[in-house]
Amino acid sequence: MDQLIIEGGTPLYGTVAISGAKNAALPLIAATLLAPGLHTLHNVPDLRDTRTMLKLLEILGARWERQGKTVRINSDRLTGAEAPYDLVKTMRASVLVLGPLLARSGFARVSLPGGCAIGARPINFHLKGFEKLGVATRLEQGYVEAAVEGRMGGGTVYFDIPSVTGTENVLMASAMAQGETVIKNAAKEPEVGNLVDMLVAMGAEIEGKGTDRLVVHGVDRLHAAESTIIPDRIETGTYMIAAAAAGGRITLTDCTPAHLPALTEKLLFCGAAIETTDDSLTVSCPEIDGRNICHPCSVDITTLPYPGFPTDLQAQFMALMVLGNGTSIIHETIFENRFMHVAELKRMGANITIEGSRAVVRGIGRDKLSGAPVMATDLRASASLVIAGLAASGATTVSRIYHLERGYENMVEKMQALGAKVKKVRE
Ligand code: EPZ
Repeated sequence: MDQLIIEGGTPLYGTVAISGAKNAALPLIAATLLAPGLHTLHNVPDLRDTRTMLKLLEILGARWERQGKTVRINSDRLTGAEAPYDLVKTMRASVLVLGPLLARSGFARVSLPGGCAIGARPINFHLKGFEKLGVATRLEQGYVEAAVEGRMGGGTVYFDIPSVTGTENVLMASAMAQGETVIKNAAKEPEVGNLVDMLVAMGAEIEGKGTDRLVVHGVDRLHAAESTIIPDRIETGTYMIAAAAAGGRITLTDCTPAHLPALTEKLLFCGAAIETTDDSLTVSCPEIDGRNICHPCSVDITTLPYPGFPTDLQAQFMALMVLGNGTSIIHETIFENRFMHVAELKRMGANITIEGSRAVVRGIGRDKLSGAPVMATDLRASASLVIAGLAASGATTVSRIYHLERGYENMVEKMQALGAKVKKVRE
């Protein structure tokens, strides 16, 4: 397996372009199953997870080709309706084919995704939502079978927790239902809005984009369309935190600063300087003696659904708080096991205590964080370890970086472009 070797202590200077959002590309690729024809998706990141989703569409009978950042998908002829376990277990977002398959052909058989490093990841809200639209679901031999006689009927779906993929699945399932569907306590993440835009371009009638109440007026059919994936706000936030931790001054282009309200506030409070335009952002540490030195203060965060602090940036922010000048409380309210990075950060000298869903981080300052061999356990934990390695003194080896490659396009090249001393080696 591949590893990253990071020589810490070098501040980051330079400019990188942000890629399309993984968590928008996955639902939008799945949405092409809703209508036959040639769909065009621009700004699709080339990641392990997007390749997995495209492979799943191939299994279902679709055909696709990539030309640079554009992917064209022809879903004229679907020859299957089953997402197999050996694929779903590698990416739980495969459940996003349930809604489109039900809308297109009235049947879907998808392996239950099973848990992952950060939690049990159930899909009960998805299934409850489908049942409100007249779908019958049953679980057998680790698969969920969902079927509806004839056309789905509209209904009212209420999410106990504003599930992102749950909202996306019900949006896709209800787009061609008979009548109106109201989704209450819907997720408001920008990636959901990106899906709404694509469905409307395909002929769907949806009101309430960006709010927690979506109204879908079912139409008889949808048609193929051309859409663009929004920039990845989690990739953007990851590089912002990396610059705040390693020091320096970096500019991120092709991004949407407006999608990062919570992180921006926290970084400004920590002493970083942030300048933005509509589609670019420059983040830097305070300049001392001509150099931008990292001196983050300590600040508490609580992860919340959008626009609150994103759970997908919690691990990365914790790496920054390790360098802080006091104590910070990190409260993870979304997932039950999203502190897998803590043990690895402690191997580098971090002082962190976990108390239930809270981590108490006692800042040790940047000169006490030392490089060490550490192991990635999940996508965002991997990013946290890379950030810690950039700030630490000495070398850090991050193993199992296939986790990282699920969600960050060309991270090694992008970090090298910013002056980071990082390289990928085969273990
Ligand atoms: C999406 O996952 C993202 N993935 C996750 O990003 C992100 O962390 C998460 O939303 C929260 O923002 C994609 O968009 C592909 P949820 P999702 O349903 O939809 C519970 C990353 O690193 N829940 O909003 O699976 C669930 O257990 C990934 O890029 C149920 O109980 O998350 C969690 O506690 C990680 N039953 C909470 O709700 C359900 O049926 C929020 O989950 C569904 C969810």
